[in-house]
Amino acid sequence: MAGHVLVTGGAGYIGSHTCLALLEAGYRVTVVDNLSNSSAEAVERVAGLAPPGAAIELVVADLLDEEALARVLAGAPVEAVIHFAGLKAVGESVTEPLLYWHNNVGGSLALFRAMAGAGVHRLVFSSSATVYGSPEAVPVPETAPLGPTNPYGRTKLAVEEILRDLSASDPGLGVALLRYFNPAGAHPSGRIGEDPQGTPNNLTPFVMQVAVGRRPEISVYGDDYPTPDGTGVRDYVHVMDLAEGHVAALRRLEAGPGCLTLNLGTGRGYSVLEVIASASRACGRPLPYSVVGRRPGDVAEVVADPGLAAEVLGWRARRSLDEMCADHWRWQEANPEGYRG
Ligand SMILES: NC(=O)c1ccc[n+]([C@@H]2O[C@H](COP(=O)([O-])OP(=O)(O)OC[C@H]3O[C@@H](n4cnc5c(N)ncnc54)[C@H](O)[C@@H]3O)[C@@H](O)[C@H]2O)c1
Repeated sequence: MAGHVLVTGGAGYIGSHTCLALLEAGYRVTVVDNLSNSSAEAVERVAGLAPPGAAIELVVADLLDEEALARVLAGAPVEAVIHFAGLKAVGESVTEPLLYWHNNVGGSLALFRAMAGAGVHRLVFSSSATVYGSPEAVPVPETAPLGPTNPYGRTKLAVEEILRDLSASDPGLGVALLRYFNPAGAHPSGRIGEDPQGTPNNLTPFVMQVAVGRRPEISVYGDDYPTPDGTGVRDYVHVMDLAEGHVAALRRLEAGPGCLTLNLGTGRGYSVLEVIASASRACGRPLPYSVVGRRPGDVAEVVADPGLAAEVLGWRARRSLDEMCADHWRWQEANPEGYRG
């Protein structure tokens, strides 16, 4: 066995795929999730996809319940934590900032206190390219200026700052701050995938809900950006590549303490129209879209410089946009209503 990992938010989209990658790498996994944006079914399906004998359990608990966290950590010999749990809808964070600060920062503080109490010294944190705000230049290196433009992004940056302070105060701590660009796709089995509640905030799940007939058409927010086809360009990264990035980060922390800040992206951008074309190929029919006005706060192009992650972790994203769309479509077609279907 490679060790025992506590995964907060492990029933969610990126968390569930990472749990599977951890089990495949020989780790035991305990998931803590309050199921506010996910389903216990995801963890059951991860167990079904995992190699025989793999060990995963789900504890339904809220991160804000520090006593529950302490009980979990007292009951299992956890060596590291991967911290996905958080709220992530940018628009909702603008209308409900207190909810976001309370859940994302308050929940993280409770977790870090419980970890300190239990003597757990390794942590991988889900940060986001959102911390860069509107980047001045692409590709974006980790040294680019930080300036999130919404409360969600500011909670991510705040947790990063807390962890940098903790790392400076304790030389025995190993922390990896992973800044994801645009996660997309699903496990190739089609058994697990992204299951957003309500209207999806991200492009790929929206496109796939149009493909499966849950929504009439895709809205393209602006086609007058200074990009080759005028639509916004983003760095989409396959969720299984991201999952493998977490295992690589954990292994790196096992080799020694310190605080790492790393972009997880491909370094290659795709426009909204390129994503729609790839999704149309995946589902076998042209997907309807219409161009509407720009969304406030959107920028023309955000693409990662993934060089540091390659150097420090030996990790590179390997899967193409067509694989992301084909895998996402396999999941969506087999589970049109997600885990509730
Ligand atoms: N998906 C993206 O586009 C993206 C991009 C960058 C960063 N991230 C970050 O990655 C992480 C995972 O994202 P995801 O897309 O898998 O989201 P998700 O909503 O699918 O997963 C988050 C999980 O956390 C759980 N959760 C939320 N608050 C909790 C709390 N207080 N206690 C216990 N569980 C709680 C939810 O029930 C859910 O299962 C989040 O922190 C998110 O901010 C996501």
